[in-house]
Amino acid sequence: MIHKEDIDKIFDAARVEEVVADYVTLKKRGVNLIGLCPFHDEKTPSFYVSPAKGIYKCFGCGKGGNPVNFLMEKEQMTYPEALRHLAKKYNIEIVEEEETPEQKQSNNDRESLFVVSSFAQKHFSENLYNSDEGKSIGLGYFKERGFREDIVQKFQLGYSINKRTEFTDAALAGGYKFEYLVKSGLTIDFNKDEEKPTEETEVIHHTSEKKYVDRFSGRVMFPVHNISGRVIAFGGRTLRTDKKVAKYINSPEMEIYHKSDVLYGIYFAKKEIIHQDNCFLVEGYTDVIAMHQAGIENVVASSGTSLTVGQIKLIRRFSNNITILYDGDNAGIKASFRGIDLILEEGMNVKVLLFPDGEDPDSYSKRVSSEELKTFIKDNSKDFISFKTSLLIGEVQNDPIKKAGLIKEIVESIALIPEAIYRSVYIKECSRIMDVQEEVLLNELNKIRRKKFNEKGIQPQLNTTEIVSIEEEVEDKRENAVADSEHQERDIIRLLINYGNKIMQVDSDDLDEDEKPIQLDISVAGLIIHELQHDAIEFENPLYKTIYEEFVTQLEKDTVPDYNYFTNHENIEICALTVDLVSSPYSLSNWEQHSIYITKEEDILKSSLNSAVYALKSRKIEMMIVDIQKQLKENPPEEETMALIQTQHSLLEAKKTFNKLLGRIIVK
Ligand code: CTP
Ligand code: MN
Repeated sequence: MIHKEDIDKIFDAARVEEVVADYVTLKKRGVNLIGLCPFHDEKTPSFYVSPAKGIYKCFGCGKGGNPVNFLMEKEQMTYPEALRHLAKKYNIEIVEEEETPEQKQSNNDRESLFVVSSFAQKHFSENLYNSDEGKSIGLGYFKERGFREDIVQKFQLGYSINKRTEFTDAALAGGYKFEYLVKSGLTIDFNKDEEKPTEETEVIHHTSEKKYVDRFSGRVMFPVHNISGRVIAFGGRTLRTDKKVAKYINSPEMEIYHKSDVLYGIYFAKKEIIHQDNCFLVEGYTDVIAMHQAGIENVVASSGTSLTVGQIKLIRRFSNNITILYDGDNAGIKASFRGIDLILEEGMNVKVLLFPDGEDPDSYSKRVSSEELKTFIKDNSKDFISFKTSLLIGEVQNDPIKKAGLIKEIVESIALIPEAIYRSVYIKECSRIMDVQEEVLLNELNKIRRKKFNEKGIQPQLNTTEIVSIEEEVEDKRENAVADSEHQERDIIRLLINYGNKIMQVDSDDLDEDEKPIQLDISVAGLIIHELQHDAIEFENPLYKTIYEEFVTQLEKDTVPDYNYFTNHENIEICALTVDLVSSPYSLSNWEQHSIYITKEEDILKSSLNSAVYALKSRKIEMMIVDIQKQLKENPPEEETMALIQTQHSLLEAKKTFNKLLGRIIVK
C-alpha cells in the first residue's frame, strides 16, 4: 500500500505532457498539445493533451485520463505500478505501508510459486537445447511440427526429461522447497491422498521407491505466462500416440494460476490486440504459436477450458472485438455458439470463422502462406448473425418451422446485448438476411428480454419501436420517457465539475435601502446545491451521487473542489467520467484561432445553470407523477386516493412552473 500523502505528491508532480511525451510526439496547438493517438491507428492527430487541465483525451477513440491512467492504459500497469513508475520518474520517495503478517505470507507464497515456475521453465528449456534426450526427442518433435527455432525460443518451450524425478531432484538440489514444488503442481507428492495418481503416474509410482514424482516427465512443455510475462503454469504434451495417456496435462489451480482468468498467449498478444483492435481466439497452445509464426500476433487461446467471462474481461482490457477461430467440427461449432453468447453478453463484438472440418489454425497455417492465411481469415470472418445463418440456412430454407426456430435462436443471442442501439442494428441485419419484418423481430426480442428480466426481478430496458397492443405500447413509451433522469443528473454534474468553484453574483432575498435586492457572491457549486437541497432532490446514478455528495461535504468545509480533484480521483470511474465531462471538443480544440465564433458556455453560465437545475427538477417531478399514477391504478382506499390526487395536482402545477421557467431560458 502506498501512503495517501505520497499519492498526492505524485499527482502534484506528474505533468501529463511529460508523461505522454515519453510515448507520443507532441506539437503545440494553442494552449494545448496535439499528437497521433497511441491507442488507435490514425494519420491525422486527434489526441489532445491539456497541460492546464492535466489530462489527455483522444477525440478519435475516446480514450482519456490523467497521467496515471495513461500509464495504466498504455503499459497495462496496475494503479500502484503506475504510481511507482511516476515516483521514480519524478524522484519522489515513497513509503509503502507495512503489510500484515497474512499479507506477507500470501505474498511470500505467491512469490515462491513464481520463482519455482521460473526455475522450471529455465530447466525445461535447458533440457531442450542442452541434453541429448531433449535435443533429439523434444526439439526434434517441434522441428517435425514445423515450429521455427525463434518461435520455440520466444514461447520458451521446453522438454521434461523422461525420468521419474529428474526435475524435482534438480529443483531440490537447487534449494527450492519441496512444499512449493508440490503447490505449483510440478511435483506430485504421493503422501498426499488428494493427489490421485493417473494411469501414467501409477506405473511410475509402482516402480519408484521415492514418494514423489515429476508431473510432466517425458513431455514437451508449454509455459503459460501471465499478463506481465511471468510464468505461472505449464501445459505438457505427451509424445506418445497411444490414447491411454492424456494428450495434455496442465498445472493444477493454485494461488498464481486460476485457469478461468488466464489466456494462453496474452502476454505476447496484448500490444497487437490493441494495435489491431481485435483479438483472435483459438483453441490450443499450438494454434497460438502457429499463428505467431505466420505473423499474426493478436491471438490467444482458452486452452482446454471452455471460454469464461473472466477470460473475455481480460481481452476487453485491450479491445472490444473478438474473432473466434475454431475447428469446423461439431464440437467447434457448439463451442463457438457458447462463446458468441458470452461475448455478446459482455457487450463486446464478436465474429466467427470456422476452419474446414478437421483443420485448426495450426494445421491450416502450415498448408498455406502467411499471406493466404491472412486473406482467408479476412474473407471468412462473419458476424454472428451471418455465421449462424450460413450454418443452418441449407436445412432451413424450405422449412418454415425450422426457419422460425433459427430466427428465434438468432434473436435470443441479440437479446443478450446490453446496449439497445446495438441490438437494433443487429435486428435490422437479421431482418435483411432472413427476410423477416423488423417489427416481428423486435416483438420477439422484447418478449425475450421481458422474460429474462422478470426472472431476475428487474425492469427491462426495451427497444422502444416494439409493437405490442396499442395500449401497452403507449404505456411503455411513457414509462420509457420518464424512466430515469440520467441526462439531467449528468448535466448537473458536468456543470459542478467544470464551473463549481466559479463565483457568481446573484440577487438575494434581502433588499437594500433603494429597495433593490442585495447582490450576493456565491460559488456555482453553492448555488446548485442550495437549489437542489431546497427541493430535496436526490441523485439516482450512484456515480453522480458520489460526486455530488463530495461537493456537499467539501462545501460544508467551505471549500469547492475543482476538476483536478476529480480527474485525479482514486475511484477510476469518477476519473474517467470527469475527463469526459471536462473535455468537450470545443474547450480543447483551437477553433477560435480559425476565428470560428463559438459561444463559450462560461458566457452564458447563468442560463445554463438555471436550465440544468429546472430540467432536473422537472424530470424528477415527472417521475413522481408516474409513480402516483401507478399507485392510483391499484385502487387504494378512498382517503389515500384523495391525498394522491392532491399531491399529483400540486406536482403538475410545479411542473408547469418549471417548464415555463425552462421555456423562458431556452427562448432567451
Ligand atoms: N487440452 C487439454 N487437455 C487435453 C486436450 C486438450 O488441456 N487432454 C487443451 C490444450 O490446451 C490444447 C487445447 O485443449 O492446446 C486444444 O486441444 P487440441 O486441439 O486437441 O490440441 P492442439 O493444441 O491442437 O495440439 P496438437 O496440435 O498437438 O494436437
Ligand atoms: Mn492441433
